[in-house]
Amino acid sequence: MVVEMATTMRVMSSHVALQRRFSLLISSRNFLSRNIDTLPIQGRNLRFVISYGVTKHHLMYTKSEHVMRSSSRRTVARAMATPVVVDSEPASTVNKEAEVSTSDTELLCCPICFEPLIRKGPAGLNQAAVARSAFFCARCRKGYSTRDVYLDLTLLATAKEYQEIQKPRTELFRSPLVSFVYERGWRQNFSIYGFPGPDEEVKMAQDFLKPTVGGVLLDVSCGSGLFTRRFAQSGDFKAVIALDFSENMLRQTYEFIKQDRSLTAVDIALVRADVGRLPFATGSIDAVHAGAALHCWTSPAAGVSEISRILKPGGVFVATTYVLGPLLDFGNKELHKILKQAALISRLGPGYWDDAELEELFQICGLVDIKSIRHRNFIMLSACKPEQA
Ligand SMILES: C[S@@+](CC[C@H](N)C(=O)[O-])C[C@H]1O[C@@H](n2cnc3c(N)ncnc32)[C@H](O)[C@@H]1O
Repeated sequence: MVVEMATTMRVMSSHVALQRRFSLLISSRNFLSRNIDTLPIQGRNLRFVISYGVTKHHLMYTKSEHVMRSSSRRTVARAMATPVVVDSEPASTVNKEAEVSTSDTELLCCPICFEPLIRKGPAGLNQAAVARSAFFCARCRKGYSTRDVYLDLTLLATAKEYQEIQKPRTELFRSPLVSFVYERGWRQNFSIYGFPGPDEEVKMAQDFLKPTVGGVLLDVSCGSGLFTRRFAQSGDFKAVIALDFSENMLRQTYEFIKQDRSLTAVDIALVRADVGRLPFATGSIDAVHAGAALHCWTSPAAGVSEISRILKPGGVFVATTYVLGPLLDFGNKELHKILKQAALISRLGPGYWDDAELEELFQICGLVDIKSIRHRNFIMLSACKPEQA
């Protein structure tokens, strides 16, 4: 069975607008540019044969940048996409090309519908392989690809005009300056509150993460990647995913990884996402680490719930944050409560929780076996996803 279709592209200077004649996946620019040519649609595998025809003037098609340049301001190009059924068995069992995805890569999901993303490109959870791959959600008909150095899987990854502003602490870390100085002095200041420092903190976390050795670790809110690199160097995990909402933190993470020769052989993938909407399959991740981050999230409850959702049964979550300590605790319960409310409302101060509240948060989100280590205002908590009944 051969179905023919055509999409018309209007090229105005470097702006390309794809007009769909058919409500098919072919309209995605990422999809076109990455040459995904086999996809399951309505239970069948369709192979697309895409060719570009140009009218009027010379036209250049730059695959990686999705840019079309034309010698005239109004050039019309024609893209012919011909879907051909390559077999009639159910798509899930026979789609060999889309099946580049291995069990490791199947964990990546669409941030909108959580459907596993179809991957076209080399397998592997490392920056190079992910950068050379295109990801596609067949249900939402949306494509995702590596921007700059990270795979952008935020809800607004494909937005051109629409914007949202996050909580101040999330926005603060998106700044290039803060991302640059983070590991060059900013993070060192945490010692004031009792943070032992990355080398010691990683050892403490590794102790809790022992049951997950050999699995995939997700470093949520990785910042400049100070823990991502240490976990990768430890050799404890088959892959480490560095995830942050800040584009500049991820760029900084990439720069530090690039400078460290010992990391070239380790699988490290860089993903941009919101902790409140993690683009991973339910029960797919062995270990999650979130250093000094809970207090930065818009909703810590949404973040911890998401982490709980993506953890495998028996998976481990380790987090560090600030708790109320000598700074706000004057030994008077009522005063303590008022100060805590004030800190919560103003969103000022390093943290506004006490140990029991954090344990309750983890419990509410479906985690068990909660342990903690406290040092002044610093707290490290570990919790597990219950084993399946
Ligand atoms: C204080 S830094 C922690 C960096 C590193 N993990 C550490 O231990 O030093 C907090 C990080 O949380 C990130 N962050 C804030 N809001 C986020 C969100 N909604 N989703 C994911 N990351 C977020 C920031 O971009 C920032 O990199």
